[in-house]
Amino acid sequence: MFANIVVLVIVLALAILFGWLTYRAVRAKALWVKIVGGLLGGIATLLFAAVTVIFAKGMFDLYRTYPVAAVNVTIEGTPEQIARGEHLAGFLCASCHSLSGELPLTGGKNLSEDSGLPLGDVYPPNITPGGKLKELQDADVFRIIRTGVRPNGQLTAMGFFPLRALSDDDAKAIIAYLRRAPAVENVRPSMNASPLLVAFVGLGFISAPGADKPIQPVTAPPKAVTVEYGKYVADFGDCRGCHGEKLDGNAPPPAPPGASNLTVIVPKWSKDDFFKTMRTGIDPTGHQVQPPMPWQTIGKLDDVELEALYLYLHSLEPITPNK
Ligand code: HEC
Ligand code: HEC
Repeated sequence: MFANIVVLVIVLALAILFGWLTYRAVRAKALWVKIVGGLLGGIATLLFAAVTVIFAKGMFDLYRTYPVAAVNVTIEGTPEQIARGEHLAGFLCASCHSLSGELPLTGGKNLSEDSGLPLGDVYPPNITPGGKLKELQDADVFRIIRTGVRPNGQLTAMGFFPLRALSDDDAKAIIAYLRRAPAVENVRPSMNASPLLVAFVGLGFISAPGADKPIQPVTAPPKAVTVEYGKYVADFGDCRGCHGEKLDGNAPPPAPPGASNLTVIVPKWSKDDFFKTMRTGIDPTGHQVQPPMPWQTIGKLDDVELEALYLYLHSLEPITPNK
C-alpha cells in the first residue's frame, strides 16, 4: 500500500509540474516556445493526469470497504455433504490453494508467477482449520466464495475469481469439507498489490465483478447425465473464462490466447474421446493438450459430471469463425 501511495504522489506531482510548465510556455514571449512548449507540455500534462486518475481509481477499488452482503448459511455436515465438498474442493480450490494442486488446501504459490507479470504478492492462503479458516464463520467463507469480500468489508483477491455459478448447496458442501479437513499450520505472505496490479485494476483489466452486489441464491439442476447438468458443470468449471462466452474460443484478454473452439471440436468426438482427452491429456489426434488448458483438473470430475459436460458441449451449434 505504501509503495502505491508513493507512486500516486509522484504521478500527481508530475501532472502538476507539466501543467505548470505548459502554463509558463504558453505565456512565453517567443512564438516557437508557445507552440512547441505548449503542445509537448500539454500532451505530458494530459498523460500524467490520465495516469493519476487511473491509478487513483485502482487504489480506490482495491483498498476501499465493500458492502458485506447478507447471507444465511447453515451447514448440516452430513457424510454425503462432506464427501461432495471434498470432491468439489479438489476440483475448484486445489489448483490455487495448494502447491501440489491436491488437497489439503494449505496455501498455493504466488499467482503473479503464473501470469508472468510483476503483479506483487498474490498468494492463495492456507484455508485448512489451522489457517485462515479459524478466523472465518461459515457465512464469511460463503461470502468470500461468491464475492471475495471479508467480514470487515475488505476485498480479497478471491473477488477477481468469484464462483458465482456454483450452487448454494455445492458451496455449502465445500464449507462442510473445509471445516473437517486436517488442520495444517502454514502461513503464506498476505496480499501486496504492485503498482502494475493497481493500474490493471484502475483500467478495468482486472476487476471484482460481484463485490458490490447482493448475493443471489443459485440452484443447480439435479445431478444426472443431462445437457442441463452439463451446462451447470461448464459454468462453475469456468470453461467460458478461457473459451469465451459462446465457447467458440473467442475470449477477450486477460484470458490466455489459443483456447480452442469447443463448438467445433467436441461435436466431432465420441464420449470416449472426450473422457480420454480430459483424463490423459492426449486428444484423439495424438496431440498433447497444452497448458494453460487445465485437463488434469477437469479430469477429476466424476463420470456423471464429465459425461453431462460432454453431452452439453456435444449439443452446441458449431460456430465457425466467419459467421
Ligand atoms: C484462481 C485462484 C483461486 C481459486 C481457484 C480459489 N482461490 Fe481462494 N484465494 C485466492 C487468493 C489469491 C486468495 C488471497 C486473497 C488475498 O489475500 O487477498 C484467496 C483467499 C481465499 C480465502 C481467505 C480470504 C481471507 O480472509 O484471507 C478463502 C476462505 C478462500 N480463498 C476460499 C476459496 C475456496 C473455498 C475456493 C474453491 C471453491 C477457492 N478459494 C478457490 C485464489 C483462489
Ligand atoms: C485457463 C484457461 C482454460 C480453461 C479454464 C479451460 N480451457 Fe480448455 N483449452 C484451453 C487452451 C489454451 C486450449 C488449447 C490447448 C492446446 O492447443 O493444446 C484448450 C483446449 C481445449 C480442448 C481441445 C483439446 C484438443 O486437444 O483439441 C477442449 C475439449 C477443452 N479445452 C475443453 C475445456 C472444458 C470443457 C473446460 C471447462 C471445464 C475448459 N476447457 C477450460 C484453455 C482453457
